[in-house]
Order: sequence, then structure tokens, then C-alpha cells
Amino acid sequence: MFKSLACAILCASLANTAAIPLGSLADVDQIGSQQGFFPFLGGSGPYFSFPANYGISADIPVGCTLTQVQMIGRHGERYPTRSEAEGIFEAWYKISNYTGKYNGSLSFLNYQYEFFISHESDLEMETTLENSMDVLNPYTGEMNAKRHAREFLARYGQLVENYTSFPIFTSNSKRVHDTAQFFIDGLGNNFNIPLQTISEAPSSGANTLTAKGSCPNWSSSVNGDVLSKYSSDYLEIIANRLNRENKGLNLSKSDANALFSWCAFELNAKGYSNICEVFTAEELIYYSYGTDLTSFYQNGPGYNLIKSIGANLFNATVKLLQESAHMDQKVWLSFTHDSDILNYLTTIGLVDDTRNLSAAHVPFRDHTYHKSWYIPQGARIYTEKFQCSKESYVRYVINDAVAPIETCSGGPGFSCQENQFYEYAKERLEGLNFYEDCGVSSVSHQRELSFYWDWNTTKYNASLVDE
Ligand SMILES: *[C@@H]1O[C@H](CO)[C@@H](O)[C@H](O)[C@H]1NC(C)=O
Ligand SMILES: *[C@@H]1O[C@H](CO)[C@@H](O)[C@H](O)[C@H]1NC(C)=O
Ligand SMILES: *[C@@H]1O[C@H](CO)[C@@H](O)[C@H](O)[C@H]1NC(C)=O
Ligand SMILES: *[C@@H]1O[C@H](CO)[C@@H](O)[C@H](O)[C@H]1NC(C)=O
Ligand SMILES: *[C@@H]1O[C@H](CO)[C@@H](O)[C@H](O)[C@H]1NC(C)=O
Ligand SMILES: *[C@@H]1O[C@H](CO)[C@@H](O)[C@H](O)[C@H]1NC(C)=O
Ligand SMILES: *[C@@H]1O[C@H](CO)[C@@H](O)[C@H](O)[C@H]1NC(C)=O
Ligand SMILES: *[C@@H]1O[C@H](CO)[C@@H](O)[C@H](O)[C@H]1NC(C)=O
Ligand SMILES: *[C@@H]1O[C@H](CO)[C@@H](O)[C@H](O)[C@H]1NC(C)=O
Repeated sequence: MFKSLACAILCASLANTAAIPLGSLADVDQIGSQQGFFPFLGGSGPYFSFPANYGISADIPVGCTLTQVQMIGRHGERYPTRSEAEGIFEAWYKISNYTGKYNGSLSFLNYQYEFFISHESDLEMETTLENSMDVLNPYTGEMNAKRHAREFLARYGQLVENYTSFPIFTSNSKRVHDTAQFFIDGLGNNFNIPLQTISEAPSSGANTLTAKGSCPNWSSSVNGDVLSKYSSDYLEIIANRLNRENKGLNLSKSDANALFSWCAFELNAKGYSNICEVFTAEELIYYSYGTDLTSFYQNGPGYNLIKSIGANLFNATVKLLQESAHMDQKVWLSFTHDSDILNYLTTIGLVDDTRNLSAAHVPFRDHTYHKSWYIPQGARIYTEKFQCSKESYVRYVINDAVAPIETCSGGPGFSCQENQFYEYAKERLEGLNFYEDCGVSSVSHQRELSFYWDWNTTKYNASLVDE
């Protein structure tokens, strides 16, 4: 048995000698060399730390003791979703059917280029050591989650030192669940973690990590009038340039748009992407700002309903802070999707909601809403509660950088004094009602987010979905 297996592998590799893609095996220098692109890919590319930390140390201030930590995280690096893949495949078919020799920035295609999606079953999925295109890929969702777990232990481990059995919460999307499981694997063998899998179905109502999914009133076509004003000339410029350099190639604007997703997801799957090098710096800025605009008006402060959607989770996290003194469990870790995190940040008020983004031009000076900074793959929003002498304080950390509350940052490490924080939260939540504002009653009768409190009797185990 063993012998024949060994032969199967060896004989196959000998038979294939002529076909070994030496070109791609020689790409070792490129792997991990393209971090500069990550902030321009709308959050589809690999994880990176929040670029603006104002110089604030993320260490717990000297003389203070942690009393509670919460985390809302995104799944890790992944392959494209089915709908994202459609556009990528369309562009790839045109490019792969081209019979001429490639010229200009596409010339890398002349050298045994291997397309980064080899199995349809990888779509929607986390990238892992096993399904990666390259064994050296440093950006798998799997490694990101495991590294995150170790960073969590390094920073907050004292809270679980004597409390090694605690639940972790995840939505029932397979990639989100996989991320939570990889995180648990990364914690090591000393922990016993009952993973709670919360359904994303609209029937979950308010008892969900994906409130937007339970919000029939949310509409993707809202603010279409604003968004349609953003110029897509840069896409035409890209397509024209590539078509001019390669006579007979006929890429469209939507193909040009798909190349940005190709770049992002190929980084996740392979550790580098030659297609990223096709764009000029200006084109990356126009694309990136386009993703900011869409996100701002569909999932951020540019859409009033978002504050009500994010209120569902924010309200529950405030309650956990208020009850922390009476709870044995000091860490509350949850995994979900990017838009749910953006909704949550919007309600908290950690993103600027005092002025709208302009679709007429890229507003460099008045532009703080960078989608990719908030929700790169593997994004993580921590809420820290700590005590310094007699007082308690609350502070947020977005992707490794302290994010002070603009109007409440007088505490140690630019934190917000506990009671002032509750006042602040009350003001933010004033007038918001997720259940009513979203019209949830037409899909569910669940009015409360209860899983943080009833997980040990309910035991959440929703079946996984590939989306
Ligand atoms: C190009 O190739 C793909 C498969 O390789 C094929 O399905 C497609 O029809 C071809 N033609 C065009 C115009 O995309
Ligand atoms: C955990 O337990 C040990 C032994 O009882 C104790 O020394 C330590 O202070 C405890 N850690 C925390 C964070 O309570
Ligand atoms: C290659 O592209 C350049 C422009 O970058 C163009 O001047 C040249 O004619 C192209 N060569 C071929 C063979 O198409
Ligand atoms: C290029 O594609 C467009 C549609 O995107 C089509 O109308 C046009 O005929 C094509 N041109 C060539 C030369 O194939
Ligand atoms: C921003 O735009 C939205 C949608 O058009 C609008 O409802 C809101 O009042 C605007 N906010 C500000 C601060 O101008
Ligand atoms: C917050 O939760 C409480 C119950 O704990 C509920 O009464 C209140 O309506 C909720 N507020 C919002 C804005 O969701
Ligand atoms: C949400 O939907 C409900 C039921 O469809 C409707 O009565 C309500 O006015 C809507 N609210 C908003 C803010 O659109
Ligand atoms: C479930 O957890 C809550 C809060 O953590 C606790 O008060 C309760 O006793 C637990 N119930 C069971 C059956 O373990
Ligand atoms: C969840 O657990 C319940 C009770 O143990 C069981 O009846 C149900 O089949 C489980 N559902 C899934 C999807 O595993």
C-alpha cells in the first residue's frame, strides 16, 4: 500500500517533469513584497494594522488592570465570493483566450502563469495552508487567525489564565466559523472552548451577529443617485491602455474593475499578484476611494438606517460592560462579516459622521473613512475595560491601534471614564430601535440579542452555509 502510494507520487512527478512551472517556483522574491497595495483594495486584500495610531500606545496604561475584553472580528483572508468571481472569470477568459504574445504590464502572462482559482469549491472559503496556491503564502486566513489567537493571549491572556473554558461566538457562514475554529486551534490545548454558532438567517431577528441580514428595510440601492456620480473614467483608462498594448485584446470597464479584485484575492491565495502591478498609483487611489464611497453610503454613516442596525450589537456590548463586575467570564470573542463590523463602528461613532463624503472628487483632506483600514480580512475590534486605582475606563482598539472616542478620551491611554462612556453610549443609542426601524417583525419575533447570556442553556449550533 505504502509502496504503491510512494510510486504514484514519484512516478507522477517524473512523468510531469517537463510541465513543472519553473517560472512560478522562482517567484519566491515576490512573495510578501506587496504590502503597499493592501490599503487600496477596499478590504479584500490581506490584513494590515490600522495606519493611524496617533502615537498612542496600545499597551494597557501603567497602573491599570484589565477587567473585561470584547472582540468583534472578521473572517480571515479568503477566496472571492461567487459573485465577485463572476467578474474575475470574465476578465480571465478574455485574457486567457488571447492568442498573441503579451506586451507591457501583462507580459508576466507569457511565463507559465497559473490562474489563482483552481477549484470552484474554493470560492467563498478561507485561504488555508492546504488550499493555497503557494506553500510559502504568508497571508492565509488560517495563519492569520492562529497568529491573532497568540496575540490575544499575549495581550489579554491574564483574563483567561484561571478561566480556560469559555465560549466563542461565530455566525454560521463557513469561512467565519473556520476562522473562529482556527483561532481556537491557535489558543492551544489548555483551553476548552464551546464554539457557539449563531444563524445568519433573517429568522434570527435581533439574536444575531449579522443584524443587516435580519433587516428587511435595508436596501442596496439606497443612495444610488450619489454613488452614480463618481467617475469611472479611471477604469476606461486602464482598459484602453491594456487593449492598446495588446492588439486584439478587448477588455471592458467592468473587466478593469474586476482586475482589482483579482489582485486582492490572488494575494490572499498566493502571497503575491502580478496583476496588482498593472495599475498606476492614481488608479489605485480612484478605485480605493470608490470602495470607501460605496461603503460609506450603504453600510456607514451616509445611510441613516445603519445606526439602527449597528445598535443591535453595540447595545449588547454595552450591557456586557455594565455587568462585567458580576460575571466570571471576562472575555467575549465573536466573529462575523465586514459590513456587520462597519455597521457596529458607525453606531459607536468611531467613524466620522459629521460630514458626507463627496462623489465629485477625492476629498483628500476631509477623508477619514477608509474602508480597508477598518475591515481588512481578519479585522478585529477590541473593547477594553480596565481599572486604574478606583476608576474604571473603556477604550476601543481597531486593528491594533487605539481609536479614542472623539468626545470622551480624558482617561489614561485616551480612554473614556466608565460612567461617561455609558452616558455617551446612551446618547448614541437615543431614538434607535433595531427591531422597529428595520421592520424585523416581518421576518422574526426575536427582539433581543440574547446569545451572550443564554448560550450555555441554548447551545447554538446552526448548520454552516457557504456564503
Ligand atoms: C474563453 O475561454 C473560456 C474557457 O477557457 C471559455 O469558456 C470562453 O467561452 C472563451 N471565450 C470567451 C470569449 O471568453
Ligand atoms: C490565577 O491563579 C493563580 C494561582 O491561584 C494566581 O496566582 C493568579 O494571580 C491568578 N491570576 C489571575 C489573573 O487572577
Ligand atoms: C507594446 O506596448 C507599447 C506601449 O506600451 C507599444 O508602443 C508597442 O507597440 C506594443 N508592442 C506590440 C508588439 O504591440
Ligand atoms: C469588444 O467588446 C465589446 C463589448 O464589450 C463589443 O461590443 C465589441 O464588438 C468588441 N470588439 C471587438 C473588436 O471584439
Ligand atoms: C448625508 O447624506 C445622507 C444621504 O443622502 C443624508 O440623509 C444626510 O443628511 C447627509 N448628512 C450630512 C451630514 O450632510
Ligand atoms: C438595548 O437593550 C435593552 C434591553 O437590554 C432594550 O430595552 C433597548 O431597547 C435596547 N436598545 C437598543 C437601541 O437596541
Ligand atoms: C421599516 O419597515 C416597516 C415595515 O415594512 C415600515 O412600517 C417602517 O416604516 C420602515 N421603517 C423605515 C425607517 O423605513
Ligand atoms: C449560564 O451562564 C450564566 C451567565 O454566565 C450563569 O449565570 C448561569 O448560571 C449559567 N447557567 C448554567 C446552566 O450553567
Ligand atoms: C443542534 O443541537 C440540537 C440539540 O442537541 C440537535 O437536535 C440539532 O440537530 C443540532 N443541530 C445541528 C444543525 O447540528
